Amino acid sequence: MRLLSVFTLSCSLVAVAGLCIRDSTTAITLDQLNKAIPVRASDSSCSSVSTPDECAPNSRAVVAINAAIAKYGVTQRGEIVALISLMAYESGNWQYNTNHFPGRPGQGTRAMLMYNFIEQYAQALYPSEATQAVGSSTEAQNNVRALVLNDNDSFGSAFWYLVNKASGYHAKADKLRSGNADDFKDYIVNGVGAGWDDTRHTIWQTVNSAI
Ligand SMILES: *[C@@H]1O[C@H](CO)[C@@H](O)[C@H](O)[C@H]1NC(C)=O
Repeated sequence: MRLLSVFTLSCSLVAVAGLCIRDSTTAITLDQLNKAIPVRASDSSCSSVSTPDECAPNSRAVVAINAAIAKYGVTQRGEIVALISLMAYESGNWQYNTNHFPGRPGQGTRAMLMYNFIEQYAQALYPSEATQAVGSSTEAQNNVRALVLNDNDSFGSAFWYLVNKASGYHAKADKLRSGNADDFKDYIVNGVGAGWDDTRHTIWQTVNSAI
């Protein structure tokens, strides 16, 4: 398939603007995120949900996502699309910041990390506060989680997880390739250890065509 390899090569050089999807980026736009997650395009969309205090519109999400892209150096398009898709699924399109079903203590952020990872994340970001808050009670676990529920940290947890807990999927030529749904499924199932379902694929398709 000589023709295909020539096309792939020119795509990776990013030289043929408009002919192919860019393979890497350092920021997404609000317009792109509004196409990816249309239900949060309006700033008032959060007032009609059951958890308005936990909900964030895209205008807030885009700032925090771009901060995480820069902080963790995640610039491969396939990785960014995957993390936005994962967060949209886990948080109900930014409606939830903590686990509600069934309401596990300490579980949260937009990636809905389990408490063991929340504790590691909080320790990494705020070592002294986290060490002070840690405990086995529901209240203690929720206090640890509270340290990382602000927008930057909450939208950043998926990026932290990829880079620190699933590094075999970060900046690899054969993982989370741009536009590759099978790579996304591989990450969800084997990198995150979560279940796969059709909704995840549908969300990914929308995000993939928007970003
Ligand atoms: C979030 O991150 C951005 C970019 O680093 C920064 O400008 C902003 O102040 C942060 N917001 C908060 C509340 O820390």
